[in-house]
Amino acid sequence: MGEASTQRRVLVTGAAGMLGSQVLLAVPDGLAAVGTDLREAAGVERVGVDLADPQQVAELFREAGPFTGVIHTAAYTAVDRAEEQEELAERVNGLACGVLAEACASAGIPLVVVSTDFVFDGEASVPYEPHHPVNPLSAYGRTKLSGERQAQEAHPGGTRIVRTQWLYGPRGQHFPGTMLALAKERDQLRVVQDQRGCPTSTLELAPALWDVLLTGEAGVYHAACEGEATWFDLAKATLEHAGVEGVEVQPCGTEDFPRPAHRPAYSVLDCSKLTALRGAPLAPWEDALRTFLGS
Ligand SMILES: NC(=O)c1ccc[n+]([C@@H]2O[C@H](COP(=O)([O-])OP(=O)(O)OC[C@H]3O[C@@H](n4cnc5c(N)ncnc54)[C@H](OP(=O)(O)O)[C@@H]3O)[C@@H](O)[C@H]2O)c1
Repeated sequence: MGEASTQRRVLVTGAAGMLGSQVLLAVPDGLAAVGTDLREAAGVERVGVDLADPQQVAELFREAGPFTGVIHTAAYTAVDRAEEQEELAERVNGLACGVLAEACASAGIPLVVVSTDFVFDGEASVPYEPHHPVNPLSAYGRTKLSGERQAQEAHPGGTRIVRTQWLYGPRGQHFPGTMLALAKERDQLRVVQDQRGCPTSTLELAPALWDVLLTGEAGVYHAACEGEATWFDLAKATLEHAGVEGVEVQPCGTEDFPRPAHRPAYSVLDCSKLTALRGAPLAPWEDALRTFLGS
C-alpha cells in the first residue's frame, strides 16, 4: 500500500472557492485531503458533486472515503442575489449542511461548518461571542443559520461551527482586489464607513480550521483576524500597503450604496474561544493584509 492510501483523509468541500482552495494548501503533515466542488480547479479531485443531494454525498463518501473528518466551506455566497433566490440558497447553505452532517454522524467523524457574522443583526456595540443571540437581517444570513442548525441537529456531538467574516485571499473575488482594480481606473473612491467588522485573510483562517477539526470540540467558534475596521479603513490600508498613490479614498454611508441585502452595521467577532484552543489569536488584520499584499 502506498503512503497516501494509509494517510488519514479529510474531505474539503468548496475546494475551488476562495477559502476552500486555501484550506487545501494548508493540510497539516500526516494528513491527506480530498477536495470537492462543482467546478474544476487546482486541488479539486471530485468535481460536480452536489452536496445537497444525499445520494451524491453517500457516493462521495463510499468512493473517495473513508474520511476522518470534513471541512465544509462550500456555500451559496452571492449575498445580494440570495434575496431573490432564497430557496436555492437554502438548499446549498441549509440542506447541504444537514446532508453532510448526517453522513459524518454515520461515519462517526467530526465536521467543521464554516458560517458567517451575517447571522447577527449588528445591533451590538461589543464583539459578538458565540452564544450571543442570533437574528439574521438577510436571506443569506437566514440560510447560513439554517445550515448551522441542521448540522448541529444531525450531528450534535461532532459539529464544529466556525463563524468568520470579511474574507479575502489569494484566490477568488474580494474587497481588497476590487479596490485595487478600481484604483487603476479612478482617482477617487467612495467607501462605506458605517459598517464595522474585521477583515480576515484566508491565509490566517485556513490553518485555524484545521486546528478546530483536529483539536476542537463540538460547538460554535468565532474566527477572524484581530482588531476591527470599517470598509473605508480596509480600502485605505489596501491602497497604502499595495503602494498605490494618487487615489483619494472618501468615506460615505451605507445609504449611499443601496444593496438588496441588509448588512449588520457592527459584526466584530469575539474570538477568545478559538484563541484559547490555539494558544494565539489570528494575526492583527493590518499585518495579515500586508502579508497578503506582500508588502
Ligand atoms: N467570503 C466572505 O467574506 C465570507 C464571510 C463569512 C463567511 N463566509 C463563508 O465562508 C465559506 C467560504 O466562502 P468563500 O468566499 O470561499 O466562497 P466561494 O469562493 O463562493 O466558494 C464556495 C464554493 O462552493 C461551491 N458550491 C456552491 N454550491 C454548491 C453545491 N450545491 N455543492 C457543492 N459545492 C457548491 C461554489 O461553486 P460555484 O462557484 O460553482 O457555485 C464555490 O466553489 C462559505 O461557507 C461562506 O458562507 C464567507
